[in-house]
Amino acid sequence: MLTWMPELKGRSLMRMTSFTDEEMMNLIDLAAQLKARRAAGIRGDLLHRKNIALIFEKSSTRTRNSSIIAARDEGGGAEYLTRPDIHFGKKESVKDTARVLGRIYDGILFRGFRQSTVEELAKWSGVPVWNGLTDDYHPTQIFADLLTVKETFGSLRDCTVAYVGDGRNNVANSLMMGCAKAGVRYVCCTPKELWPDEAVLAEAEAVAKRNGVDIRVFSDPKKGVKGANVLYTDVWVSMGEEAKTAERIKMLRPYQINMDLMKATGNLDGKLMFLHCLPAFHDFNTEVTKDSGALEVTDEVFESKYSKVFDESENRMHTIKALFVSALCDRAAL
Ligand code: CP
Ligand code: NVA
Repeated sequence: MLTWMPELKGRSLMRMTSFTDEEMMNLIDLAAQLKARRAAGIRGDLLHRKNIALIFEKSSTRTRNSSIIAARDEGGGAEYLTRPDIHFGKKESVKDTARVLGRIYDGILFRGFRQSTVEELAKWSGVPVWNGLTDDYHPTQIFADLLTVKETFGSLRDCTVAYVGDGRNNVANSLMMGCAKAGVRYVCCTPKELWPDEAVLAEAEAVAKRNGVDIRVFSDPKKGVKGANVLYTDVWVSMGEEAKTAERIKMLRPYQINMDLMKATGNLDGKLMFLHCLPAFHDFNTEVTKDSGALEVTDEVFESKYSKVFDESENRMHTIKALFVSALCDRAAL
């Protein structure tokens, strides 16, 4: 029997605080159960006749494909809608689009720029709306990250996650709160210019305190990562910030995750993994890195035994499926 969470039925996910700590942990457990079911060859019908609209203003490989296959695996459907395809925000307001799509679909996943857009969709559509990344937050990513840490180490207990890079982007904001909610120590290694936003930090610190852990911010990455079990990074320039590329590369070069930094954890022979939400600039093979070489992580670390990035990216699918199932499925179907 799968974990049933009646309290998540019909719920939207705007940011990490949309769910209680317990709801988040239950969702991660449900994802692990759904993963095991799929590995056993079971494609169920938990989302039978459920249709999900995927509104994407920004590019995506993992979130888009995870959502489509999550729905399809369980007998549902998903339609990919980009800004140029629909009238969204051009000929038609977000509010009107929300009311139209809410009459047609059972849920909406949104990826785009403004946090206010996903909130407006949730306010007016009348169906569950999930944030698949905005400029401010990336909550579905963090469910997959926590699942990956839990399945690799067996538990989230006594764990320190050190995030190294742009300390105030969408992934960093959500990871900080996700760790706080899960009772995982969080360290952010980032230059002063990119320290977490004060309000976002204060909110996460209050949750961390309640769960008996702390959050620390360091400018010196070697000091910050000491004792860490997870080294996590993200791109130095998020989607929409391309104009800042040269400045960020200069600023964040000392924050690259390489073997020296992995060694600085003191855990090379112990509990240690590398995570990255992906896509990652770890080699010379992309349009962006053909001249600069590796950016936020070296190929050596990315391809090492510590790297769990493909487990993490697979877990996007299982956790998004858990999100859809918990919001849309009836108990009778379980
Ligand atoms: N990690 C992540 O959200 O990947 P995509 O941009 O490919 O969806
Ligand atoms: N911070 C990155 C995450 C990509 C998944 C971005 O917003 O581009």
